[in-house]
Amino acid sequence: MESVASVTAETMALQRSFESHGARRRRLFTDPFADDFLRPSWRALATASGVPILRRLAVGVYDSVGGRGPRPSAVVRTKIIDDAVNAAVPGHDQCVLLGAGYDTRAHRLTAMSGRRVFELDHPATQEVKRSVIERLGIDTHNITYVAVDFERDDLARRLVERGFDPESPAVFVWEGVSQYLTKEAVDSTLDVVRRLAGHGGVLIATYVDRRALTEPSPFPEARRWIRAVARVGEPWIFGLLPEEASGFFAARGFVLQRDVSTLDASRDWLSDRSPRHWGSELYRVAIARAEPSAA
Ligand SMILES: C[S@@+](CC[C@H](N)C(=O)[O-])C[C@H]1O[C@@H](n2cnc3c(N)ncnc32)[C@H](O)[C@@H]1O
Repeated sequence: MESVASVTAETMALQRSFESHGARRRRLFTDPFADDFLRPSWRALATASGVPILRRLAVGVYDSVGGRGPRPSAVVRTKIIDDAVNAAVPGHDQCVLLGAGYDTRAHRLTAMSGRRVFELDHPATQEVKRSVIERLGIDTHNITYVAVDFERDDLARRLVERGFDPESPAVFVWEGVSQYLTKEAVDSTLDVVRRLAGHGGVLIATYVDRRALTEPSPFPEARRWIRAVARVGEPWIFGLLPEEASGFFAARGFVLQRDVSTLDASRDWLSDRSPRHWGSELYRVAIARAEPSAA
C-alpha cells in the first residue's frame, strides 16, 4: 500500500487551480479549494497565474515542463465529468469517487449537496485530503471516506460496511485512475461498480488510449507524459483501444454511452483558445450505464 500521498493527485489540483485562476468569463469551472492541496512552490505558480500580466508566463512555465496535453486534458475532463455528474446525480442518491485524490466535487457542485458521497483512495492521499478539508472547516456530514487499495481490497464489502446502499442507484466517478492499475484491479473494480451501481447506475471513467503506452507512440506528447508520471512513482500501465472500448465495457456489464478524447472535447470547450492549448487525443472520458439485467 502506498505510504506517500499521490503526486499525480496534487498535479490534478494544480491543473484545476490554473483554470480556476483564469479569466472568469473564460474558465470552464472554478475549484476554490484546489490551491489548498498544493505545496508552496506550486501554489505560488498557481497564484501567479491569476495575475493577468503573469498568467501566460506562469502557465507557460508549467506547460514547458509538463509538455503539451496534460493541463488542457485535465481541464476538459474536469468539465465533462462535472457536467455528467450534474446531469446524473438528481436521479441518484449516492456518488462514489473512486481514487478521489483532491477532487472537490463533493464540495463545489451544488448537485452533490444532500447526496451521500463516498470517497475512496489510498490512505496516504486520503489523509492529506482530510486534513486539508478539516483545516478549511468544510462541512463533511454527507461524505464517507474509505481508505482502500484497488489492487487488494474488497471494495464492495468496504463500501457496504460503511453505509453504501446497493439498492439505491449510484454514480461512480473513476477519474484519472484506471491507467495506474493492473488489468486485474481494473476488472475487479468494474465488477464491483456493476454489482453496486443499481439499476441505471452510471459510471463516469477516464482511460488512456493503449497506443500511448507503446514505443514509439503515435501520440507525440505521450513519451514526456509517461516519463513524468513514472518519475513520481505512478507509472501508467493500463490502457484501452477506443475501438475496443464499447466491447470492453459490454463484456463487463455496461452500455457505453459516450466516449470522447480530450482533444475532440476541446473543439467544443476550448475553441476560444489556441489549439496549442487543447487537450490530448490519448486521454479519454467514457460514460457508461450499468446494464439493468446485470445489475
Ligand atoms: C491522477 S490521481 C486522480 C485523482 C482524482 N480522481 C482527480 O482526478 O483529481 C490518481 C488517484 O488514484 C489513486 N490511486 C492510484 N492507484 C490506487 C490504488 N491501487 N488504490 C487506491 N487508490 C489509487 C491515487 O492515490 C490518486 O489519488
